[in-house]
Amino acid sequence: MSVERTLTILKPDCVRKGLIGEVTKRIQEAGFHIVAMKMMHLSSTTAGGFYEVHRERPFFGELCDFMSSGPCVPMVLEKENAVADFRTFIGATNPAEAEAGTIRADFADSVGENIIHGSDSVENGKIESNYFFAESEIVANKG
Ligand code: CMP
Repeated sequence: MSVERTLTILKPDCVRKGLIGEVTKRIQEAGFHIVAMKMMHLSSTTAGGFYEVHRERPFFGELCDFMSSGPCVPMVLEKENAVADFRTFIGATNPAEAEAGTIRADFADSVGENIIHGSDSVENGKIESNYFFAESEIVANKG
């Protein structure tokens, strides 16, 4: 297994619920190293650019409204097998289908407001990390 990077976003519902600390603690306890992190309030256009692949989906407008409804916290995480392990760690997109003990099962209200994002492939992890962070903003961190 090789060391990979994945992009996560603690979404506006995570921030509103005061869960930045709890979710970040769980991320670190699960062995993911935070190598970049910032708080941002996305515009609807910036959110739409990030979710470009979903532009034709019926929920796209709702998704952009939600993702621009308050601040969020994008992070780049590093770990062996980070992409697949993080998807397992956060649980299914629909929290009703997420395994017990996952972030979405524990904290998310609905498929639209599901607390956290995780890249779905190594390639998208790179593309998505580049969407929020310059290479110079990504640091070495084993903590
Ligand atoms: P995420 O993993 O960030 O990637 C795409 C997002 O689209 C997904 O989480 C959900 O928040 C959102 N999404 C997917 N399906 C639906 C849906 N049926 N209705 C509303 N939002 C959705």
